[in-house]
Amino acid sequence: MSEKKNAKIVVVTSGKGGVGKTTSTAALGAALAQEGQSVAVVDFDIGLRNLDLMMGAERRVIFDLINVIQGNANLSQALIKDKRLENLYLLPASQTRDKNALTEKGVLQVMEQLRSRFDWVICDSPAGIERGAVLAMKHADIAVIIANPEISSVRDSDRIIGLLDSKTERAKKGQEVEKHLLITRYDTVRAGTGEMLAIDDVSEVLSIPLLGIIPESREVLSASNLGVPVPISNPASLPAKAYVEAARRLCGEDIEVTLPVSKKKLFANWFGGRAA
Ligand SMILES: Nc1ncnc2c1ncn2[C@@H]1O[C@H](COP(=O)(O)OP(=O)(O)O)[C@@H](O)[C@H]1O
Ligand SMILES: [Mg+2]
Repeated sequence: MSEKKNAKIVVVTSGKGGVGKTTSTAALGAALAQEGQSVAVVDFDIGLRNLDLMMGAERRVIFDLINVIQGNANLSQALIKDKRLENLYLLPASQTRDKNALTEKGVLQVMEQLRSRFDWVICDSPAGIERGAVLAMKHADIAVIIANPEISSVRDSDRIIGLLDSKTERAKKGQEVEKHLLITRYDTVRAGTGEMLAIDDVSEVLSIPLLGIIPESREVLSASNLGVPVPISNPASLPAKAYVEAARRLCGEDIEVTLPVSKKKLFANWFGGRAA
């Protein structure tokens, strides 16, 4: 990692918690690293420390983001190199320390250092519109807004878009943060019954381009229980393919977004539809 880089900083954000931010940070990070990019995933969710679990690195955490900010460790000491992908690193969050330890100046310094070392820096944001979420998005060039196809989730995303347009460094310079919508936990069966918002409605309401649609899948759950991001644990699965395509779109590839439907499910829906 000697050559100087100029990373794209991505924030993975949402208004509501539990929509799939941490899962998506880990999966997009892994997918980009599989494409040969150097990637750091950064946990801004101070106090929760979920990202290290999803990356399977919880036992290897010695120093964290706050240690680096407070000068108790340097960045190289705190970065944890992934055991499966050599260009993937994790900067973990602190579990116990005070959230106010995350200072604006400290975050700026860490982001500048990360920017010069990686191709991509992916920041996993805490939920909501509070200080922690604002700090996570502060230096972002790109925002991946996570929403589930439900009205409340979409409404909360709208508030996040407002923050991205007012509180970020880019906004202050009169520049835009590039925004993408990633729909997660998309359930084909429930979509068929009309319980969920249609994808077109979601992206129309938010009027930002769709980065991908990740299906609701047991593969994702078992991957997070194992501490292996789904593109690594089961690359052939539907959610892994959806994340890999989303990562390639982030890199600028023009790939059409399709609904993640397995042949088996399509068949079931078809018969279900005829019977109804
Ligand atoms: N596509 C998916 N299919 C099934 N479960 C999912 C999917 N995405 C996320 N989950 C589960 O939803 C829960 C919340 O996800 P998480 O990534 O922690 O959300 P957030 O970081 O937004 O709070 C976790 O238990 C995770 O395993
Ligand atoms: Mg999370």
